[in-house]
Amino acid sequence: MPAFIKVSEDRIFHLGNGRISYVLNVSAEGVVEHKHFGQAITRVDNLPRTEKRVHRSCVLHHQDVPNYNLNDVAQEFPLFGTSDQREPALHIVNDDGNTTQVFRYVSHEVSEAKPALSGLPSARGDDSQSLILTLHDDVVNLSLELSYTVYADHDVVTRSARLINNSDVAVSIDKIASTCLDLPADDYDLLHLKGTWARELNEDRFALPKGRFSIDSATGTSGNVHNPFMAIMDRSTNEHQGRVVGLALMYSGNFAITAELGEFDSVRVLAGINPFNFSWHLPAGDSFTTPEAVQVFSAEGLNGMSQVWHGFVKNHISPPQFANQARPTYLNSWEAAYFDINEDVVLELADRTKDLGLDMLVVDDGWFEGRDDDTTSLGDWFSDTRKFPNGIEHVGALVKEKGLKFGLWFEPEMVNPKSQLFAAHPDWIIHVPNRVSTTGRHQQTLDLSRQDVQDYLFERIDSFLSSGHIDYVKWDMNRNMSEIGSAGLAKDQQRETAHRYMLGLYALLEKIVTKHPNVLFENCASGGNRFDLGMLRFMSQSWVSDMSEPIGRLPIINGASYVYPISVMASYICPVPSHLNGRQVSLKTRAEVGFFCAARGLSLNAEDVDADKEALKDIAVSYKATADDLVNGAFYRVKNVEQEVCWQLNSQSGQHVYLGYFHILSAANLPSRHIRMVALEPTADYRLQGTDQVYSGDALMHMGLDMPYVSAMQTTDDEFMEAGDFASRLFVFERV
Ligand code: GLA
Repeated sequence: MPAFIKVSEDRIFHLGNGRISYVLNVSAEGVVEHKHFGQAITRVDNLPRTEKRVHRSCVLHHQDVPNYNLNDVAQEFPLFGTSDQREPALHIVNDDGNTTQVFRYVSHEVSEAKPALSGLPSARGDDSQSLILTLHDDVVNLSLELSYTVYADHDVVTRSARLINNSDVAVSIDKIASTCLDLPADDYDLLHLKGTWARELNEDRFALPKGRFSIDSATGTSGNVHNPFMAIMDRSTNEHQGRVVGLALMYSGNFAITAELGEFDSVRVLAGINPFNFSWHLPAGDSFTTPEAVQVFSAEGLNGMSQVWHGFVKNHISPPQFANQARPTYLNSWEAAYFDINEDVVLELADRTKDLGLDMLVVDDGWFEGRDDDTTSLGDWFSDTRKFPNGIEHVGALVKEKGLKFGLWFEPEMVNPKSQLFAAHPDWIIHVPNRVSTTGRHQQTLDLSRQDVQDYLFERIDSFLSSGHIDYVKWDMNRNMSEIGSAGLAKDQQRETAHRYMLGLYALLEKIVTKHPNVLFENCASGGNRFDLGMLRFMSQSWVSDMSEPIGRLPIINGASYVYPISVMASYICPVPSHLNGRQVSLKTRAEVGFFCAARGLSLNAEDVDADKEALKDIAVSYKATADDLVNGAFYRVKNVEQEVCWQLNSQSGQHVYLGYFHILSAANLPSRHIRMVALEPTADYRLQGTDQVYSGDALMHMGLDMPYVSAMQTTDDEFMEAGDFASRLFVFERV
């Protein structure tokens, strides 16, 4: 069914696609009320009543309308100043200093073309319909446009807001959310993804308490402490059944998402730019556009929600030229050689890459002028001719002559104080005059709100990419912002710096990826410090975490998969013992956990490669043979308990099914385990590769598959996992 937006005469708006419905209406007072986001409904003429407050103590009537109290009305864009005292979606300081706003519905427009968001990434709109509601505040002469897009093939509604100053005086925006989702009183659980460096994206689920729960970032990135995502679900929802709404922001800077369980037990979810340390001076005649919020609904539990996210990211957010393309397998120089690279080392690694049968060699950090360690030279984007006498592009050409692809690392947004760039332009950094600029990893953040900084970076990066020898770029970003201010902005605009930085970054990325559409970009920020839909709009894949050790990575990939498809995730096989946590994990487990990210490779030095050469060749064969399934298949979380994680991937045609079972810590005398698989063809037969065992889909789903027994005492003929900790098994089924 195509996406549709139906508008009834009594101003009820029904957005749907036959599977989901999003319903709102305009009250007699011109307030835009929220009515439903969930399963499709057929008739919207008998909407649930608007709550009435007939008990008088402390209860306000909205604008003298008896018994109509906005504190208890689900709204599309709640305001502050009248009868709603919960957190508002908008907070503006008017020219006369007060903060009351009353926006009322004026008109609407339905469009087949999804409106672009000025300066910000947004989801592509093919096969969608959009609604733009216009509201107006007559006293201050401001207009507000609320935009909605509903999609035919995805159970998604995107939202954004635009504030237009029609008056002849400036106002100051202290807060403007991208979306508000007011949910009716019920028992809800909340799920979000939390963490820190090397432990990003771990899931956290709990019953929503009374009060307000916020996740946010003030780091200048979306951050690794909280991902800009939240899911609210019925308490009975689990991985495989139940209603759930997921919400994520397409924004890579400071964000806030709050969920408030209010006095009448309804839930308000607000998401947008973090209002903390934000203020936007909006001159007369100007407008401000919020980032886009993406809202998905599933009645099929968290896996169902993830399927919606995965399909939507792939079809409407990821750069289309790579979205369905198998990712090249690669060898990355970072954990292989760190800063000790030169032409010989790189060519030697290229020979190993070729010999193993991998597709691409990636030169990570350390290739540019003076970069011998992490204290120096970021910003000086010229080849270090001590290490690469003929330039890094020449090495790229030599690598490509071997029949490989060539990739290069950049950290464009940063500068080391010890660099030629900083010496020439000390005011090009984010800073506050007369204060020490705190360093992070010995570096400062370049002020991307400045056009001259954007132009310098474009020229430098473009000069390398224009050589035609670079197929892939890892775009890194390794510190958070501090002493936030810009030499390019006026006094009353200093709190615009962090958002203007994002607008500058997006403009730079847009220019680069548009000019170099055939370069595959990977997003990285100390691992997952900026892993969000905004970056994924420009970059086809993301380095999920610096935690390259597979057991440490399990909860990270598991958590990331709630929102992000494995088609955008990158991993590599790390050296042992792990440089991150010292764990000694077998090559088998490293390869089988790494299997479940579409961009797969190694970061091993020549010696490590030689030591495991034959096994690595087999891994390369398996990675390459399955590369298409990783990008185009459907990924499911099957089990995630204390010592066991199990994931399943169905190839797009359903012909191949991969089941990864990971057993973390060993113990004696454990129970036997079996796994109930998911999403199979019930009556189809599946042959387990390497055996002549054939199972029906319904048997695998409802009876389950026995897992090899975990024991060090392998004294029978039964199937065992490898003895000891960190065991894994990859089952491959073929539909017969
Ligand atoms: C960051 C990245 C790593 C690596 C180093 C290089 O830490 O996350 O993968 O590229 O920078 O300095």
